[in-house]
Amino acid sequence: MLISKAVIAAAGMGTRFLPITRSIPKEMLPLVDRPVIQYAVEEAVACGINLVVMITAQGKASLEEYFDRNIELERSLQQRGKKNLWEKIHRLPDMANICFIHQKEQLGLGHAVLSTKEVIGKEPFVLILPDDLFEQKEIILQKMLGIYQKFHGSVIALRQVSHESIGRYGVIRAKHIDGNIYQVLDLVEKPRPENAPSDLAVMGRYILTPEIFPELEATAPGSGGEIQLTDALRSLLEKQEIYGYVTEGDYYDAGTIPGWLHATISLALKHPEFGPELRKNFFVSPE
Ligand code: G1P
Repeated sequence: MLISKAVIAAAGMGTRFLPITRSIPKEMLPLVDRPVIQYAVEEAVACGINLVVMITAQGKASLEEYFDRNIELERSLQQRGKKNLWEKIHRLPDMANICFIHQKEQLGLGHAVLSTKEVIGKEPFVLILPDDLFEQKEIILQKMLGIYQKFHGSVIALRQVSHESIGRYGVIRAKHIDGNIYQVLDLVEKPRPENAPSDLAVMGRYILTPEIFPELEATAPGSGGEIQLTDALRSLLEKQEIYGYVTEGDYYDAGTIPGWLHATISLALKHPEFGPELRKNFFVSPE
């Protein structure tokens, strides 16, 4: 079955970025020349998605505004001959059909995903957590869609992480299948490092089947008192196979200040317009 819908989870409180996130959603923080959320929408569009379901929450109205048309601004830019700027903002509302779901209580990622049940219906769908950014963003979801087509089970993105940081993620126990592909045998959300079943952590890209919804409905609060997607996937394992795809290339966790700084610097250095100047100013040591 073709996958045409992507859920982008953008309801998190962003406490790691306080005080900034008192009035700016963390998804609106800039990464070089675009807010974090735009990378997620672009990634969904690049893999052929035509409906983006964005989960937001209180204080996140600017996400909606960002993807809305601003006729007055567009007209003014056109009149002043600012064609480049006009193009940048004109294409935003047309990038994808985006519908917004307001999560009224922030009870965890699993709860957020459950709130999309009616919009998603009985179709498989992509889930993107915008904090996780990948250098190879054009190919990760493509590869995962390929695995879904071949094995007909849910697919989650994985990455080897260090023992010290494993406790920040969902972690899997798995059987190696081929190349970067694993079959998931068990999952645990944010284990203590000494209890982690492996060093393979769940990254924020998923292909989910609609069978996840009844599992989410039956999932009690878990790690951190939140309804965890990882726990629902764990119970889904009794009924359906789940596969993992180990991602390659650079990865940035834009959900923490150090990760966001890392992403900003790396992406700026690689940027065709800003990179060369930056390298000249900061990275050539004076004679
Ligand atoms: C969420 C998931 C976790 C996953 C992580 C990836 O955690 O619950 O399983 O490993 O995203 O970034 P969060 O970062 O929302 O605490």
